[in-house]
Amino acid sequence: MTNTHIPVLLQEVLQALSPQDDYTYIDATFGGGGYTEAILNAANCKVIAIDRDPDAEKRAQLFKQKYKDRFQFIQGPFSDIDTLLPKDTLYNGIVFDFGVSSFQLDEANRGFSFRLNGPLDMRMSKDIGLTAADIVNIYSAEELAEIIWFYGEEKKSRIIARAIVEQRKTKPFETTLELAELVRKFVKRHDGLDPATLTFQALRIFVNNELIEIDTVLKKTLAHLSVGGKVVTVTFHALEDRLIKNWIRSDHQELQHSSYALKALFSKPICPSIEEVKNNPRSRSAKLRAVQLIPAKSVRSAS
Ligand SMILES: C[S@@+](CC[C@H](N)C(=O)[O-])C[C@H]1O[C@@H](n2cnc3c(N)ncnc32)[C@H](O)[C@@H]1O
Repeated sequence: MTNTHIPVLLQEVLQALSPQDDYTYIDATFGGGGYTEAILNAANCKVIAIDRDPDAEKRAQLFKQKYKDRFQFIQGPFSDIDTLLPKDTLYNGIVFDFGVSSFQLDEANRGFSFRLNGPLDMRMSKDIGLTAADIVNIYSAEELAEIIWFYGEEKKSRIIARAIVEQRKTKPFETTLELAELVRKFVKRHDGLDPATLTFQALRIFVNNELIEIDTVLKKTLAHLSVGGKVVTVTFHALEDRLIKNWIRSDHQELQHSSYALKALFSKPICPSIEEVKNNPRSRSAKLRAVQLIPAKSVRSAS
């Protein structure tokens, strides 16, 4: 199956999940189906895939043809996992690979790319309210600076925000390159990253409400996991990783008074090898964490 999105940390995800025959897994961020395909090929199991992007549904058709009733696709935001998935069913594992796919980045019309000219959109799904253009054209300089600083950690956030507000007085922003070129006038980088990277990242996270999405789904995840089930997450920046760490800590504490416990499968997050980063620069900031829901007794007897 052709796939122009190179799945990040794929072998490590598979190793953490260790798919088994007759088990059912959730791939909550289907994208190009890289993880789904590897899971379905690793065992005679089933995968229910979720993605909020309708374009992902088109790619999922091919999986349906190939894997038949071993595969199902559901379109929607993963924060709605409790209503998207059938009630009262428990799953053996859930994988999350947060952020955008190369399909989204490489399609100029989606407006995610600072390299390709397209409408400044960035919505993963059209039912998301405001586009990135709406935000840069409506929000105040203070609000824009806050967004660009908080979600992009861009040191020049204030300068960029003021420049945006100044430029839109002449003509509202419509395209990705109008914004990218403005940012490049004020940001210089010496690490090979395009100067517009962090501003675009910040707007994308804000447009798609990405951190709230993650926080919401994590709070609902354990309710869908069978005992022995695993949650495997791949994050791409510190804000996402912090949400995962906090979730593991808080659910671990909450479970202390129940007969279950959360076991971390690795003592430290797994990062891509130098080789992987060379082959797929998008993987450079990836971190994999994995936990397993286990009976509390086995924690006590293991310690
Ligand atoms: C990094 S890609 C996943 C790539 C996939 N693992 C693969 O190997 O092809 C992330 C995907 O998650 C989807 N996504 C992001 N946020 C989402 C959300 N809140 N709900 C559902 N899907 C989401 C995006 O539309 C994108 O297709």
